[in-house]
Amino acid sequence: MKAIDIIKKKRDGQELSRAEIDFFINEYTAGNMPDYQAAALLMAIYFQKMTKNETVSLTQAIINSGDKINLAEINGIKVDKHSTGGVGDKTTIALAPIVASLGAPVAKMSGRGLGHTGGTLDKLEAIPGFKIDLEKSQFISNVNNHKIAISGQTAKITPADKKLYSLRDVTATVDNISLIASSIMSKKLASGADAIVLDVKTGSGAFMKSLHESFSLAKEMVDIGNAMGKNTVALITDMDQPLGNAVGNSLEVIEAIETLKGNGPADFYELCLELGSQMLILAKIASDEKEAKEMIKSSIENRSALNKLKELIEIQGGDSRVIDDYSLLPQAKYKKEIKLKHTGYVKSINAEFVGRAALALGAGRDTMESKIDLSAGIILNKKVGDKFTENDSIATLFYNDETKFEEAEELIIKAYSLSDDECHPKKLMHGLI
Ligand code: URA
Repeated sequence: MKAIDIIKKKRDGQELSRAEIDFFINEYTAGNMPDYQAAALLMAIYFQKMTKNETVSLTQAIINSGDKINLAEINGIKVDKHSTGGVGDKTTIALAPIVASLGAPVAKMSGRGLGHTGGTLDKLEAIPGFKIDLEKSQFISNVNNHKIAISGQTAKITPADKKLYSLRDVTATVDNISLIASSIMSKKLASGADAIVLDVKTGSGAFMKSLHESFSLAKEMVDIGNAMGKNTVALITDMDQPLGNAVGNSLEVIEAIETLKGNGPADFYELCLELGSQMLILAKIASDEKEAKEMIKSSIENRSALNKLKELIEIQGGDSRVIDDYSLLPQAKYKKEIKLKHTGYVKSINAEFVGRAALALGAGRDTMESKIDLSAGIILNKKVGDKFTENDSIATLFYNDETKFEEAEELIIKAYSLSDDECHPKKLMHGLI
C-alpha cells in the first residue's frame, strides 16, 4: 500500500477501505508517513468528506493507536458524559455527584481548558488539596467504593489523535465534522465507558456555531458510538450565552455547589436535569425521563448529591470545608461592577467574548503551558431576557492584575446586545438524538 494512492483515491471522492485508513493512521503515528502526505490526505478528507463507514474505521484506527482503558473491574453500567466545550460549563462538578448519589458509577476522565473554554480539571484544582491525577488502581477502587472518581487521563490513550490534531490545527482542517466526531469519540471509547451521553453545544461560545452543524456533529458521534456497540445519545444544548452566571474556576466551583444546595441558575439546573436523566436511563437506574428527573430533584432536595460532592472532595484529598466556606477557595484581590448607561433588556450575550474576557483576566490559558489564575473570573448578573436599568450591574469582574481590567471590560460590553423591547430568555435544549 502506498500513501500517494490513498491520497489520490480520497482526492477523487472514492471511499477508503478500513485497511487503507489503518495504514494511514499506523504509518503516520509511527512517524513513517511525512506530515505533507498526511496533510494532503486531511485536506482531501476536508473537501470530499467521509462516509459513515470511513468515519467509524478512522475512529477505530485512532483507538487502536494507544492504550484502551478496561473498566470491567468497576461494577455496574458505566455511563460517561462529554461536553464539546463552552463558557461557564461546570456541569461535571454538579452532575457527577448527582448521578453517583443515585447509584450510577461515575468513572470520569476530564481535561484542561484551552482558549476561551474551561476544563473540569482546572476548576477542581481551585479546591485546596484536590488531586486530579489518580493512579489507575485508586481510580477504580474509588468508583467501586464511592461510585465516583474524576481524574486526568490514567493511560496513554489515542496518541494518533494528538498527532493528527496538531497537524489539523496548522493546516485549516480542524472543522470537518467527521474528523471532529472521530477525534472526540475515539477518546471517549478508549476510556472504557459502557454508554455515553454527549452534550453538543451550539452557538456563539461553541465549536459549532450553527444549529445545523451541531445536529450533524451530534448525529455523526451517536452513529459512531452505536456502531461500536455503545449506547450513545446526544443532547444539543445552547451555548449562545454562557452557561449559568459564573465563568472562572473558583467562581464556577461555587456555582456548582450552590446548584447542589438548590440555588443554581435556572439554565444550569435544567441542563443537569436533562443530561442526568439520560445518564440514569442508560445506566438502567431510571426507566424514563420523568422518573429520572424526579430522582435528580430529590437528590438535590435531600442533599445526597451535595454529600456525594463532599465525599468526592475528601477521597481525592481536597478540603471539603469549601462546601460551607467559600473563602477557602482562591480569592481575587479586586472586584468591580460593570454598568451600562441604558435601560432596557438583554437581547443576546456573545459567549465567546465573555470567555475571552475571562481569559484576559487570567482565568484561562492561551497555550497549554500558560498558568491559570484560579480566582479570576466573571459573574454575569444579567442574562438574556433580563431587564436592566442604568444603575444595575450587568457583570462583576474578579481579578488580581489591574492592567487586565480594561480589555475584559471592553469585551463584556461588546458581548451584550441590548434592546428597548422585551426579549425572551433563551431556550436551553435544542434537541436530542
Ligand atoms: N475536540 C476534540 O477533541 N477534537 C476535535 O477535533 C475537535 C474538538
